[in-house]
Amino acid sequence: MLDVLTPVPYNLRELNKIVNPVMTPEDLAKVHAAKLTPFHPLYDFNAPAKSLDTDEPWLGLNLDVTKIQDAEKLVKILQRYVYQGWFEKDQSPDKSDYNNHFRENPYRTWCQTPWLNVTEKGREAIHGLTKEFPLTSSPAFKVPEEIDKNGLAYSWGLAFYNRRFCEVYDQFFRPRNTLSFQDSEGKLAEQIRNHSINIKAKDGSVNFKLLFSAMQDWREQMKDQWQGAYNWDAHVSTNHKVIPGSAELDQSRRSIMNIPHIQMDVGFKDSRIAGTRDELNYWVMMTFYYDPTYSGNELLNDLNIPEPLKYMRPVGLQYGINAGESHIFPGAKNNHRPNGVELPYTATRLNGPIDSSPTSCMGCHSQSGISFGLYPQADGKAVFAPWFGFLTQQDYDHFLSPEMGTGVSFDFNMQLDEAMKNFAKAKANRIFPASHK
Ligand code: HEC
Repeated sequence: MLDVLTPVPYNLRELNKIVNPVMTPEDLAKVHAAKLTPFHPLYDFNAPAKSLDTDEPWLGLNLDVTKIQDAEKLVKILQRYVYQGWFEKDQSPDKSDYNNHFRENPYRTWCQTPWLNVTEKGREAIHGLTKEFPLTSSPAFKVPEEIDKNGLAYSWGLAFYNRRFCEVYDQFFRPRNTLSFQDSEGKLAEQIRNHSINIKAKDGSVNFKLLFSAMQDWREQMKDQWQGAYNWDAHVSTNHKVIPGSAELDQSRRSIMNIPHIQMDVGFKDSRIAGTRDELNYWVMMTFYYDPTYSGNELLNDLNIPEPLKYMRPVGLQYGINAGESHIFPGAKNNHRPNGVELPYTATRLNGPIDSSPTSCMGCHSQSGISFGLYPQADGKAVFAPWFGFLTQQDYDHFLSPEMGTGVSFDFNMQLDEAMKNFAKAKANRIFPASHK
């Protein structure tokens, strides 16, 4: 099941570290010693259908995502959809055995992305989280200055894809369920070189990502803001001082830490819903953050789920890249300051509290397939997507135009972009001949 088992050198500017990818024998020993369950990836893309796989509760309601009330309804429906079924193994009456959650789901098929276990960011051993960026202060979360300034709290995320989306992976990872890309006949390498990969998920595709913050001592540091948050014990790294009081930081060393769940992201694709757009392949995106003062999504009332998940507050929904093509729901806080100042919520773009990005959910995700292996795709001409993505649809369209030579799309899926990057690097010589370096 695992792609890499040997330690790999990882160059972190001045520090030259050797990083152990997930699941080394040392990792597993730590997991068992802590009485925790190791990560088992969900890579069966073609498993027999489960009872709720054909359930599409957003249909038949006449929703139009350009209307804020309809957008809020859709976001609440999807929050319920992604929570259902993950807590059946937990025998405790209040579903407080957090270690056992989001591992298997008897009602709905969810799968995950292979090839994300390499590098310093690779999947960790207990839940399969991958490493992202440090958390900074946002309108939703005020982070202590020392942590903010030194990037001391890295985010870690875990994403799942519903059955509709797994069908894409089932086509893409060949031979079936071996987790290699469809490379046995050398086809993939050729497709990468001649820019002919084109991935399109079907209507009804949903994916979601749970995000956690590896902030040491978070209960104390974020006392009022994160009190009572849902949390996991995970085998993660963050940015620690090598010697307390010294300036030298090390962000590659992993240890078992307790980390709070503070944001959830959801992507949804369905051309049958009014207001979704052809030029964005009918995707919309939405996000939630932990807010203990939130009164709750009424559609969760009949689910027996861990209490803190009911305080995941929906921020809004984005249906276009341009400013003003996102809704921010009353009472929620967005995080979008392209020029250092938060835009008015009637003319903003959706961006989550832990996304320290000047663009937006869709502005960044639109790069999927473009940011991957750019240089070879552009036939050796250096073509770069703007830092962290696009601010307007026009810029995105221009970038996709034939004269830019970049037109490869992974249909807004960023994990696949990462996975392909890892894959291409591992097979560097076969995929990108020396002349492309
Ligand atoms: C700066 C770029 C950037 C921004 C902004 C961003 N994302 Fe992502 N997103 C990524 C990357 C990179 C990944 C894959 C990395 C990983 O999961 O380890 C990802 C993964 C995801 C996934 C898992 C499925 C997939 O596409 O891989 C979802 C769902 C998601 N993001 C939703 C959102 C939402 C909703 C927002 C806005 C609130 C958002 N993202 C903002 C870059 C971004």
